[in-house]
Amino acid sequence: YGDYNQKIDYVFKIVLIGDSAVGKSQLLNRFARNEFTLDSKATIGVEFQTKTITIDHKTIKAQIWDTAGQERYRAVTSAYYRGALGAMLVYDVTKRPTFDHIARWLEELRSHADNNIVIILVGNKTDLGTLRTVFAEDAKEYAEREGMFFLETSALEATNVESAFLTVLTEIY
Ligand code: GTP
Ligand code: MG
Repeated sequence: YGDYNQKIDYVFKIVLIGDSAVGKSQLLNRFARNEFTLDSKATIGVEFQTKTITIDHKTIKAQIWDTAGQERYRAVTSAYYRGALGAMLVYDVTKRPTFDHIARWLEELRSHADNNIVIILVGNKTDLGTLRTVFAEDAKEYAEREGMFFLETSALEATNVESAFLTVLTEIY
């Protein structure tokens, strides 16, 4: 028995990864609590939040892990990925280097996570559209080549945040 004495049918672990300041913690904050903080502090170590959802009349507890993008604050890699069924790989649509680093995050993910892990590539901060430096078409093409789902989000405006998490959770289910 879990939240509110509800019977939990499944627990799915999902990990958030990507460079510092792309908005991982705020995507999680938006999804789990429908909150957003503009002066969000860099994550140190590892944090997690849960959210219970229903798919096909089954109660699923999403346990979402969040660590630092900055190397020196990161959680122990193998422990972080252990048991993860889904991953959200996040970049900032206004910061090209954060997209260029996706290949490295993917490499780390593939070497530590289960082979069947469900991955979604997420381009965050679409509310800053005028500052965009990564085109959706390029990211989408990259995601398709690598067998990942893809969505663009705004944690600030709550655009596509729920869809992004639900895409992963539904696919795991
Ligand atoms: P680390 O914990 O260091 O790895 O960073 P992070 O990826 O968790 O970034 P975080 O969620 O802390 O967000 C970094 C900054 O970007 C904060 O100032 C957020 O308020 C801001 N931010 C996050 N999401 C969005 C968004 O969708 N739009 C805008 N405009 N700002 C955002
Ligand atoms: Mg963070």
